[in-house]
Amino acid sequence: AQNERDSLFIALKYAGEFFQDTLWNHSEGKSIGLSYFKERGFSEATIKKFDLGYSLDAWDGLMKPALGKGYSEEILEKAGLILKSENKTYDRFRGRVMFPIHNVGGKVIAFGARTLRKDKKQPKYINSPETGVYHKSDIVYGIHQARQAIRNEDLCYLVEGYTDVISMHQSGVQNVVSSSGTSLTKEQIHLIGRYTKNITVLYDGDAAGIKASFRGIDLILEHDLDVHAVVFPEGEDPDSFSRSMSSEAFQQFLKDNAQDFITFKTNILTEGGKNIDPVKKVAVIRDVVESISLIPDGIKRSVYLKSCADLLEIDEQVLISELNKILIKNR
Ligand code: UTP
Ligand code: MN
Ligand code: MN
Ligand code: MN
Ligand code: MN
Repeated sequence: AQNERDSLFIALKYAGEFFQDTLWNHSEGKSIGLSYFKERGFSEATIKKFDLGYSLDAWDGLMKPALGKGYSEEILEKAGLILKSENKTYDRFRGRVMFPIHNVGGKVIAFGARTLRKDKKQPKYINSPETGVYHKSDIVYGIHQARQAIRNEDLCYLVEGYTDVISMHQSGVQNVVSSSGTSLTKEQIHLIGRYTKNITVLYDGDAAGIKASFRGIDLILEHDLDVHAVVFPEGEDPDSFSRSMSSEAFQQFLKDNAQDFITFKTNILTEGGKNIDPVKKVAVIRDVVESISLIPDGIKRSVYLKSCADLLEIDEQVLISELNKILIKNR
């Protein structure tokens, strides 16, 4: 019901403000949360821009003041802020730095919460569950802060994590959102597609990141958006890499290293052109043609096919007949 949605929004807004107040004004928040963000290189302006916060390391750090303000246990639970078991009710987020997730209009709808412990006993991030106002497959992190810039630049950078979005803003790149740990969905692509038809994927320079970028590229092509990709050095993500250089150098790196998806996939699959083993080459061609077959627009398909033929030094006619076979099979 509309009333319940409104109550959830109000409770989530309260929680977001409470976590921020804790970060800036509470001794535990300042000494643990705020210093963590500062050690990561986030400026005060950046911390404020993203409404970052801190949850006290206690069972009722949020619940107690929230109940005192008149929020019911029922609403706090439905908002994903507290958990109920048979004999106790307690805060979901405890002793973590808080990343509020906003909808397009800027309302808080959920939280991501990072542990500050180095041990691997707890998950690195805990996120809000699905609620009446949060459907994680429908939203991308950072869209509220990025949408104007995405329109202006007619381009959206897509990254893996919360901190990648935040660090890139600090490096002067504001047209960036994150799928935040879930694999990209068609709803997320439609959301980005309201602002631009161009996506550049920036995934972590590790095996998982490359795999996720391939999946993302295919899904983006299927939805008729144009896609480029940037490879990061092994072990780097956009957050760590952007902080290792000046803003200017980072922005230049993005411009110099954005490859169209065919060049990107070909380079990775052939290990930068070194691997020219014919068996491997056949597999690479198949893989790239499969991706091209997903593009709904026939003119775009033929343009990409031509560039694929040039890059892989293969007869265009052969590719055309391969493509047609795939198209018939998938019809
Ligand atoms: P990463 O493991 O790459 O984390 O996960 P990160 O964003 O680089 O975080 P830092 O730099 O170590 O602080 C990428 C994204 O996947 C989601 C989060 O959204 C994270 O930002 N994730 C990751 C989870 O939801 N849960 C996890 O346990 C780990
Ligand atoms: Mn949904
Ligand atoms: Mn990763
Ligand atoms: Mn990462
Ligand atoms: Mn990181």
